[in-house]
Amino acid sequence: MGVYARAPLAFERGDGVRLYTAEGEAYLDCMAGIAVNALGHSHPKLIAALKDQADKLWHTSNIFRIPNQEKLAKLLTDNTFADVCFFTNAGAEAIECAIKTARKYHWANGNPERIDIIGFDGSFHGRTIATIYAAGNPSYVEGFGPTPPGFVQAKFGDLEGLKKLVGPTTAAILLEPVQGEGGARSWTEAQLKEIRQLCDETGTLLIYDEIQCGL
Ligand SMILES: Cc1ncc(COP(=O)(O)O)c(C=O)c1O
Repeated sequence: MGVYARAPLAFERGDGVRLYTAEGEAYLDCMAGIAVNALGHSHPKLIAALKDQADKLWHTSNIFRIPNQEKLAKLLTDNTFADVCFFTNAGAEAIECAIKTARKYHWANGNPERIDIIGFDGSFHGRTIATIYAAGNPSYVEGFGPTPPGFVQAKFGDLEGLKKLVGPTTAAILLEPVQGEGGARSWTEAQLKEIRQLCDETGTLLIYDEIQCGL
């Protein structure tokens, strides 16, 4: 299936920050997947951890407790703002979960009309139906049918415009603190604080997509 304009290049193995073709030609990996291989390639400790788990147990589903997952969740909640973790298989799935959580939160609080997710131009949140419309990039939504209800597009950096868009049907504002695909465009700390305040005043939820820029 035609996805990216593929480079005529394939790699056989990776080691730390380098990638190697089957002919042994080395490349410095400045892409890291698309900013996802933060730990580099083939680190011995990571290989050992993966092999160790593969030898013991592959999958049990979340019908059962998963002690190592609980350990990781505790590490994350002890060291970040969060008090709960939900693990997903991909970034798009995490954003889908955030959108669903925001809508369900308002529904559970007696405000089922609050379904709108406000996103910004230049953002990228994944390639599922909900996440392409949350980002609103015209080239990613083209051909995928009518825009589903509940997605509103704001202009990156325009706080006055954003304030006008927040209303009685707003569920959440969704933003990347530093836009990845938008070209490393950041919100300033002052802008983020103002958005936080806008959310507090209007009962709007604030979703940070830090999938590319990191915690
Ligand atoms: C900011 C951001 N959100 C969401 C995603 C989607 O992640 P995934 O490709 O794992 O679904 C990406 C992927 O690059 C991303 O950069």
